[in-house]
Amino acid sequence: MASTSAPPSSRLYRRPTAARPHVGVRFGHGVASGDPLTDRVVLWTRVTTDQLSVPVGWVIARDEALTDVVARGTAIAHADDDHTVHVDAGGLEPGTTYYYRFTRGASFSPIGRTKTLPDGGERVRFAFCSCAKYNAGFFNAYARIAEHEQLDFLLHLGDYIYEASNTPPKSQTPGADIGRPFEPLEECRTLADYRRRYAQYRRDPDVQRLHQQLPMIATLDDHELADGAWAGGSTEHNVAEHGPWAERRDAALRARWEWLPARPPEPWDRTRVFRDVRLGGLADIMLLDIRSRRDEPARDPEMSEPGRTMLGAEQRDWLLRGLDASDSAWRIVVSPSVFTRTWCESPAQPLHTALAKLKLIDEDDEGPDHDQWDGYPAERAALTGHLRERGIEDVVFLSADIHVSVAAEVVDEASGRPVAVELTAPSLTSQNLDEKLGVAPRDPAILRSEEAYVAAHDHVGWCEMASHGYVVIDIDADRIRSEWWHVDTVLERTGGVSLAAAFETPRGARQLRRVS
Ligand SMILES: [Fe+2]
Repeated sequence: MASTSAPPSSRLYRRPTAARPHVGVRFGHGVASGDPLTDRVVLWTRVTTDQLSVPVGWVIARDEALTDVVARGTAIAHADDDHTVHVDAGGLEPGTTYYYRFTRGASFSPIGRTKTLPDGGERVRFAFCSCAKYNAGFFNAYARIAEHEQLDFLLHLGDYIYEASNTPPKSQTPGADIGRPFEPLEECRTLADYRRRYAQYRRDPDVQRLHQQLPMIATLDDHELADGAWAGGSTEHNVAEHGPWAERRDAALRARWEWLPARPPEPWDRTRVFRDVRLGGLADIMLLDIRSRRDEPARDPEMSEPGRTMLGAEQRDWLLRGLDASDSAWRIVVSPSVFTRTWCESPAQPLHTALAKLKLIDEDDEGPDHDQWDGYPAERAALTGHLRERGIEDVVFLSADIHVSVAAEVVDEASGRPVAVELTAPSLTSQNLDEKLGVAPRDPAILRSEEAYVAAHDHVGWCEMASHGYVVIDIDADRIRSEWWHVDTVLERTGGVSLAAAFETPRGARQLRRVS
């Protein structure tokens, strides 16, 4: 396990280019790109202005000096969109790096770097991550992702923002004492609140560095909406006090579409987030929305009722059809909630306390964490049964949300056979076990909890409960490799990062093999 204070590839990292002096407008939230396809990518910026609308020039080129121009044009930053700008720049070549910039009069944005998706390439490499809680830590992991070697894009599994109050209710962990309070201080409930929260995140230098360097493909988890969100509400949403849930959800989604460099998959339905991304015959990525369409979490016996859904009928049908039709080498299902079982009956100490702190045991100790797929067992069994019955091979689940690193095999419980593997990313900053217990990261209680978790779950190959970071996925036609990269700390802005573990799954194997 090599620890290094140098980034994985400082050679490739370029310092953010400072904006030049400006007249009238500023690009204070940087630039971003996202939802790349083989021939296009969304370019994003925001203008800080008092004017109702401002025309903004944009340019995309093959070189960083912006001399080999591919396309240019003008877009409008309007108050209706919170002065955010989205340009869907087309006419690009597959698997190609581009540079872009926005201008207004004498004002220039920083120069961003982006890349289109490959079309029939031999190898794809991307990072995935989740759970960026602003008041819990510095986004060192974003900075390390920005400088990681040869990534094609970042896949974000949600909790890109936390809507939480700086003084949260008991069900949520308070932030760290590091001078990073949320803006606004209160929980976000209105469009203005969510916009302010996104703006705070996008002023962060490491968030800006990430977006300036890599295109992002994102789904969402609950905190883009509200804690514990489901189709008809959330844990902390009180209709009598806060108004109709649909209004709050729509406000949260509107701010999200404004502030992310994203292309809505159905422009006429802004509640649709789930979509697929094709990597040129190498992999089909299916991004799930496991929040806005799910039934309300429930305990048994209701939890085990056959009709209960995490996905909703429309998304489930889309997923099954996509899995059946996929003829790529790999099928990657992106589920922010953990798909495999995290529950274990009557765990001994210290695992019992660890699972309770990580919310993998229901807080009243009455059963599984009903927030994950453990809480939707019938639909999970239907999905694993579908993979088994149809003989669908080479399926990989990517998940997050529980704030710890896990490598596991996905077992179809009806047959007892593995049908896929699952790779779970730690949080970027949200508190994990050491912070929730108030102990050192490698405290004996942590080590014993990790050992006991693996021992209690035959399908789990490895777990680490006390680090923050991200996972790098490297795909070719023969194998998928996963690397867990952990940062040294989130309590100060530092550059240390280390490779915690790496696994490979050969085509046709449905198994994890630990590699050096
Ligand atoms: Fe989270």
